[in-house]
Formats: sequence, structure tokens, C-alpha cells
Amino acid sequence: MTVTDKTEQKRPYMIFKVLALAAAAAAVTVLSIYGVHDVALAVIMSPTAASQAWDVYRGENKDREEVTPEQKFVEQSESFNILPPTTCDIPPDRQFDCAPEKLISQEECQARGCCYVPVSCLDSATGKPWCFFPLSYPSYKMKNLTATETGYTAQLTRETPTFLPDDIMTLQLDVMFETEGRLRFSLRDPANERFEVPLETPQINTKASSTLYTVQFSADPFGLIVVRKSSGQVLLNTTVAPLFYADQFLQISTSLPSGFISGLGEHLTPLLLNVSWTKVTLWNRDMPPAPSANLYGSHPFYLVLEEGGLAHGVFLLNSNAMDVVLQPAPAITWRTIGGILDFYIFLGPDPKNVVRQYLDVIGYPFMPPYWALGFHLCRWGYFSSAVTKEVVKNMTTAQFPLDVQWNDLDYTDARRDFTFDKDRFQDMPDMVSDFHRGGRRYVMIVDPGISSSSPSGNYRPYDEGLKRGVFILNATGQPLMGKVWPGPTAFPDFTNPQAQQWWYDMVKDFHDQVPFDGMWIDMNEPSNFVEGSLDGCPNNKIENPPYVPGVLGRSLKTHTICASSKQYLSSHSNLHNLYGLTEAIASHNALVRVRGKRPFVISRSTFASHGHYAGHWTGDVASSWEHLSYTIPAVLLFNLYGVPLVGADVCGFAGNTSEELCVRWTQLGAFYPFMRNHNDHGNTPQEPYVFSQGAQKAMRKALLLRYSLLPYLYTLFHKAHSAGDTVARPLYLEFPEDPNTWNIDQQLMWGAALLITPVLVAGKTKVSGYFPLGTWYNWMDGSTIHSRGQWILLPAPLDTINVHIRAGYILPLQEPALTTTESREKGMTLVVALTPEGVARGDLFWDDGDELLTFEKGDYTQLLFLARDGMLVNEIVRLNHQVDGLLLQEVTVLGVPHPPHQVLANGVPVADFSYRLDTKILNISLSLLMGEEFVITWS
Ligand SMILES: *[C@@H]1O[C@H](CO)[C@@H](O)[C@H](O)[C@H]1NC(C)=O
Ligand SMILES: *[C@@H]1O[C@H](CO)[C@@H](O)[C@H](O)[C@H]1NC(C)=O
Ligand SMILES: *[C@@H]1O[C@H](CO)[C@@H](O)[C@H](O)[C@H]1NC(C)=O
Ligand SMILES: *[C@@H]1O[C@H](CO)[C@@H](O)[C@H](O)[C@H]1NC(C)=O
Ligand SMILES: *[C@@H]1O[C@H](CO)[C@@H](O)[C@H](O)[C@H]1NC(C)=O
Ligand SMILES: *[C@@H]1O[C@H](CO)[C@@H](O)[C@H](O)[C@H]1NC(C)=O
Repeated sequence: MTVTDKTEQKRPYMIFKVLALAAAAAAVTVLSIYGVHDVALAVIMSPTAASQAWDVYRGENKDREEVTPEQKFVEQSESFNILPPTTCDIPPDRQFDCAPEKLISQEECQARGCCYVPVSCLDSATGKPWCFFPLSYPSYKMKNLTATETGYTAQLTRETPTFLPDDIMTLQLDVMFETEGRLRFSLRDPANERFEVPLETPQINTKASSTLYTVQFSADPFGLIVVRKSSGQVLLNTTVAPLFYADQFLQISTSLPSGFISGLGEHLTPLLLNVSWTKVTLWNRDMPPAPSANLYGSHPFYLVLEEGGLAHGVFLLNSNAMDVVLQPAPAITWRTIGGILDFYIFLGPDPKNVVRQYLDVIGYPFMPPYWALGFHLCRWGYFSSAVTKEVVKNMTTAQFPLDVQWNDLDYTDARRDFTFDKDRFQDMPDMVSDFHRGGRRYVMIVDPGISSSSPSGNYRPYDEGLKRGVFILNATGQPLMGKVWPGPTAFPDFTNPQAQQWWYDMVKDFHDQVPFDGMWIDMNEPSNFVEGSLDGCPNNKIENPPYVPGVLGRSLKTHTICASSKQYLSSHSNLHNLYGLTEAIASHNALVRVRGKRPFVISRSTFASHGHYAGHWTGDVASSWEHLSYTIPAVLLFNLYGVPLVGADVCGFAGNTSEELCVRWTQLGAFYPFMRNHNDHGNTPQEPYVFSQGAQKAMRKALLLRYSLLPYLYTLFHKAHSAGDTVARPLYLEFPEDPNTWNIDQQLMWGAALLITPVLVAGKTKVSGYFPLGTWYNWMDGSTIHSRGQWILLPAPLDTINVHIRAGYILPLQEPALTTTESREKGMTLVVALTPEGVARGDLFWDDGDELLTFEKGDYTQLLFLARDGMLVNEIVRLNHQVDGLLLQEVTVLGVPHPPHQVLANGVPVADFSYRLDTKILNISLSLLMGEEFVITWS
């Protein structure tokens, strides 16, 4: 293992938000804005006295290839001599694991000063610990608690070392009362700067004057207790288990006020996590979604529902590999192998506010172009431009909407980025221009791995990258070589400003040849087909930490690059979970500069704040009913993570789909905020037009339904972008006071107004859905449900997805077309869903759909719609010319109790209206300008 030279440790500090803003303003010198920050390499790589002892220990084992974490623990614990515990009488649910890495013997457990109580085979399978902390286990003591401008500061000291190497015996605690609903507390090593996630978060310099919380402290053992003032509920109590703060093992536990907890992605999981001894691991990984596996992204954030419809959230701003353990107490343990402990607590008080408060810290979602909300089509296996063009032609012939055509790796020359096959895709530039003429857009895949095996002078991305020093380096300071699709590859280090500029140059070069519209960034965990590198990984403490979180493959380097490889800001170990995010930022910025339009980037790997720059698809899901149903919690969770532009591969990616599955998936997919049908190579085709006429009809119906709802969807995206709202949302966000909604993840909502109840099981033509208290109108037939908060069995023939409109809302719709370019010109409809009291409201955000920063520049139209007492009016909040000529052609009023005799529009009788006694729906045809005030009455 090497200690890097000291000069290299002074690194510029990259500020993600600054880069983004600068790029948005199309600044050419965007990458020169950074301050100086002494990064964590110093801490990680320069041995303290304690870690020297550790190195000696490793030295003794030199003849072994690798030291397993188990061996390390045993060795450490032998020299650990506190007295055996006397207080082991703790209820099983509240026992905190003292041997997280393995089952240890009674002697080993007691040598750690812990309680040893073997559990039955049955319980053992659940993950319940055999070896756990006694009540009096040594932890840190708090001293000198002092009030500061923003809250409190205190010193924590530990007298007894733990069983882990490199304890940091003195810590600094900072508690910041940042806003009424947001509390932050951090634990740092006052003597050495450690790695901190380079995310620009709000800086507060005065304490909030009033807060929803109070904070209490326990001095010995140290603990921090957060109480919700209004209810007296204890939200956090870190006294429940000892605090660990060693160089490579930081652990803190807290009680939870309830077991209703969502978050901690990315995993294949229901919306609510199981608190019955569940361990989730965060370490970004290329892995087809499977239960308990760490997947592509990391979002160390959770939301807990409390009694009475309240909720709070917790965000640990830490990017290292970590485990988070849930236990039935209920309680949670965070266990990370680097960085610092930096927590944000969001007090809501309701779940919507929790999400907004989280997004206040990590950034609100970017505003996607309007076309991004149309239908996208892709597969691996469109092996030529001719085939790709034929797909678009076939979609048009079969009258399916299609906004964006994609290509997977097929288009490339020898699978290398920024090239196209001059034979099979010879006319790629013309193909893309053709798509543009048809009002469509084009997106292609780009992987981060840059082929390193082309002859010098033959492949500019590598030659230029090498020249500018943009690649991640190995132990000998040379570009680390891995292997991905093109063979041997080097990995750009997107934390290096040089790499951001180089990426822009490559994107621009390619765009000068092929005028693509967006980037699909895949394989950016980063994925690597060899372990670590073609030359292996060094045997050092970063590669072999004393505790390895529960990553698939049991080693940090599995399917990725060496954890100790060197990046501009720090070690890869610290930055691994940020790789996809940093590539997304580079791609977002490059697209802004190259196209001068709103960027469209869809990424597989993500980290907190990703949604500020890009969207996400849920990776290589299987074409199975099980995966279909898991896509709902996935989409809902990513909305909580601030990544509303999210969807799963419609009809499934891996394996062959079936017609029925593909129909049901298209119906649900029509309600993914991002909708793309994508297929693996070798599978039977799954474009909508390959199926029977009956199936095509059902799919067409779902797609047209989506297209007619796009003005509503776009308005939801605007609210996400401008106010930190979600787009697709779990029912509990709208109905937190109804505990029946808390675990519902087989239905979803779009905004506050639409409830979607898909069929997720083969062979079913009925589906049961939960309807919270209120009136709900069936989209298809106008039938009405007055629910007391109950489950209702709904008919669901193969051609139908159940969509219900919530009384009290007005939805703006538009006549669908085969592209959004066309549909944006069509007539609009307002659907007015009256409450039994006869009121409803809604709004519309409308702009050019493609220009940058329209909201920020005020270049948009915003209309409010209000219905009351048999009258519908609009209110023009803001007007721009984009709304010119847009017509309101229809108003559909749901829940009109009595047949009207007269309808007036701006005082003039309307001839063309109809009313149905059975459904109580009033339909009015008219022709009014959306951008002018109107009053429509019925009586
Ligand atoms: C507590 O703070 C005071 C004032 O800052 C300082 O003089 C004292 O040494 C501190 N005590 C400890 C134990 O850190
Ligand atoms: C916090 O947890 C400790 C340890 O379980 C317990 O003794 C204490 O009463 C708790 N404090 C509160 C306010 O719940
Ligand atoms: C939670 O996990 C436990 C143990 O694995 C299992 O018995 C229980 O059924 C699970 N609960 C739910 C709601 O899935
Ligand atoms: C397009 O449709 C034609 C006629 O149905 C079919 O033969 C062809 O395979 C389709 N092409 C693709 C790429 O799906
Ligand atoms: C570093 O990578 C280079 C290739 O760029 C390779 O030749 C060298 O052996 C590697 N060093 C180590 C320590 O793996
Ligand atoms: C998918 O269908 C194709 C063609 O029928 C077949 O060759 C292939 O084996 C199937 N794949 C799987 C995973 O069943």
C-alpha cells in the first residue's frame, strides 16, 4: 500500500451545483470554478499510531494473498480486555449486533465485552444476533456542550478502544437547527479532515427561530434524542447502542417511532421495508434486480410514517459502502466504512414536506423536455440503421405514438463510445435527421469505459483522454485498465474538471456528426467484467477493510474497479457510489452546451441529488409478472429520492415477454413518468406492432391515454422542478392519515388527482384496489365510487387499465397524436371532477417544452382553473406567447347532479353540449383560447 505524495493531497473541491449552474448559463469556462479543500486521502492513507500497529499485523500475514475481515476481527479482539458484561437481559428485538461480520464463538464474543446468547435455528435465519451489546457497553462520552450561532457543539471522547482498528478517540459533534423542519448533526474528526461528499448543501449561519423539534443529549454514554414537539414522539434516540467511529468503521443506531419505513435504495423491494432483521447494502453494482442484492444506485435516505399522518425523514450524507440494518424494536443501524457521519433530519410534519425538505438539501429535479414524456422505443438488436428506421416506420403504420427512437450498442464501431459503424449504420446522421423531420427525437447508449486497445491515433476519445490525464489511476499511477464491452477500457474520472471538459469535447465531436438529442448512460456503477482491473488490485487496507458490507460477491471490487484506485478528489472507495452521478452531471452539462436545449440524460447508476441532473431507468428487469409488480415501488421510491423521471423497461428486458404480460406492462408503463419499451438481444420482439390486433388495440389505447394526459404530467414535472413535489406518488403521500394506504405499492398516483390500479397478475380480468375516503370517477366510463376508505374489486378486461380521478381536481388534457410535436398543437380538454359540494381546481404549466430555464426566466404560461356553483373559470397567473392559438375545445364535468338546461361560455349560449343521466357527466364542446380569460356556466 502506498501513501500518495502530500502535494497531490491538496485537491480542488468540485462543487456539483456550481458546475451545473455555470453550464446552464452555457459558460465556456465552466470547469474552472472550484475552491480548495484538503481531501480525505490524508486520513485514509497516512497511518496513525494505531493503524501502524494494524499494518504490522498485516505484515505478519504477508504470505497470505488476502486477509479476510473475519481474521482481522479475531486478531483484534484477542487484545481487547474489558470485563464480561453483567447486563445482558435485553429483549431480543432490542439487541444490537456486536459481531456484524460473522457468527463468532462465545469466547470471541465475550472478549469483545458482549453478550452471547445463541438463538434457535429458526431465528438464526432471520439475522437476529447471537452476540450483542450489553446495556453498559463503552461508548463515547460527551463533554463541553456549548451553544453556537446555529445550535450546539460538543466534544465526544472514547476511553476504551473498540474491537476495530483505528478508533478515532475524540470527535466533534455539531448540531445545527437549520430550519423549522430541518435539523442537521455531524460527527467529525477534529484532528484530521476526512472525506466528505462534495455535494453543495444549504449553508445556514443562524439558528432557526422556531422548530418542530427539540434535541436532548445523553452525556454518558453519548446519545442524541430528537423529539417532535407537537406529539412528544421520540423520532431518534442514538443512545440505544454504542457509537463506533473508527477510520473504516462508523456505526450509529437509533430507535424508530414506527416500523413503517421506506427508502434506502436501490433494491428490489416493496415500498415498505421489513423491519424484521433486514440488512440493506449500498454499493453501486451492475446486477439484474434480485432480492437483497445491492443494485445500481445509492440513496441513504429513509422516510418513516408516524401516528396521525405525520412523518419524518433521515438522510445520511455519506457515499461509502454501507449496510443499514433494520430490526423489530423498531430500530435502525447505519454502518459505513468511511467518510463522516453527517445526518439531516426532516420533520415534515407530513410525508410531502419530508420529501420537499430532503430535496431542499439535495436539489430539486431538473425540468425534462416535453418530448421526454412521450413514448420511447429501444432494443438491443436493432443491428442496422435500416432496421432502426423500419421500426419507426412500422410504429407509424400501426398508428402507435412514438417520440423517441433509441439504439443500444449496435450502432457503435467495435462497441466504442462516440463512434458509429460505418457499414451497418453508414447513414446514421441521415437517419437521425429523418427522425427529426418526422417530429421525433433520437437517443443512443453511451458507456463510461473508454476502449484502450485501438492503435494510437485511431481513436480520439482514448488518445485525448490519455493526453489530458482524465482516467482513473491505479497503484502505479497509470490508467487503471478494466474490461467492458469494447474489451480493455480505461475509466474517465468525472470528478476531474479536465474530464468534464474532455467529455464535453467528445460529446460535441460526435454530435457534430450525428445530431442526437439525449444520452443514455449505462454501465456506470462503474461495471467491469474483471475484478478490480486487468492487473488485479493491490492488497491494502482500502481494498480489505476490517468490515466488508454485505455486497454481492463479498468483495468491494466485484464487478467493478479497485476500491483503492485513485481519482482526482479522493480514492475510488469514497467516490464509487458517486460515479454515475458525476457522469450524469458531465453528460447533462455537455448536452446543455452542445445543444443549447434542455438536456435529456437517463442513467442506470444514481446517488442522492441525481434527479437534479438526470433520470433513471430501473435496469435489467426480467420479463416476468413478479418484476412487473416490483416496478411500482421502484418508481415510487425514486420519486421520494427526487428522481421523478423514472421508469422500468416496458414488457421487461431480460427473457421473452408474453403478449398478455406486454399488454399489462404497457398499460402500467403508460403511467411511468418515463416510458420506454426496451428488450435484450436474442429475445422475441416486443414492439407494440408485433402482437395480435387485440393486443395492439389495448396497447394503443394505453398509449393514447398517456398522450392525452401529457399536459397534466408536464405540469406535475414543473411542480417537482419548482417546488420539490413528486410526480408519481405513493398513496400515503396524499392520505397519510389513513394507515391503510401506508403499505400500498400495487397502485400509484399521478399527482394528487389520478389513482392508477393496474393488473399485475396473469390471467386476471378483475383487480382489487384501495380507494381512500372520497369520491372517485372512473376514467373510462365515468362511473363513480363514493369510498369510505375501502378495497373495491374492479372489472379489468385485458384492454383496460383502471384509472380514477379524485373529486375536487381539474385536469388539463390534449388530443393525442403520434408525436408530442403534433399533439402540442392540438385542442385541449378540461376534465372537471366535482366534489359532492360541486367544487374542483387544477392548473396548467405551459412553455416551449425544450428551451433552457423557461421557469427561471419567467418565459412560460401558468393557468389556474376553478369550478364552483356551476361555473368554471380560469385565472391567468402568467402568460407567454407559447400558448397563442392553443384552443380549449372541450370541457367534461363529472358529478353534475342535475341535467343543465343552459350552458354559457363568456355569456354566450353554447349549442353543443350533452348530459348523461346515468353517469352525471356534462360534455361541452367549444372553442376558446386557453390564453384568454373565460367563464363557463351550466344551470
Ligand atoms: C471546554 O471548553 C472550555 C472553553 O472553550 C475549555 O477551556 C475547556 O478546556 C473545555 N474542556 C474540555 C474538557 O474540552
Ligand atoms: C433512549 O434510549 C435509552 C437506551 O435505550 C433509554 O434508556 C432512554 O430512556 C431513551 N430516551 C428516550 C427519551 O426515549
Ligand atoms: C418480514 O420478515 C420476516 C422474517 O423474514 C417474515 O417472517 C415476515 O413475513 C416478513 N414480513 C413481511 C410483511 O413481509
Ligand atoms: C416491420 O414490419 C414488417 C411487416 O410487418 C415486418 O416484416 C418487419 O419485420 C418489421 N420490422 C421490424 C424491424 O420490426
Ligand atoms: C497499472 O496499469 C497499467 C496499465 O495502464 C499496468 O501496466 C500496471 O501493471 C498497473 N499497475 C498495477 C499495480 O496494477
Ligand atoms: C426466447 O424465444 C426465442 C425464440 O423463440 C428462443 O430461441 C429463446 O430461447 C427464448 N429465450 C428464453 C430465455 O426462453
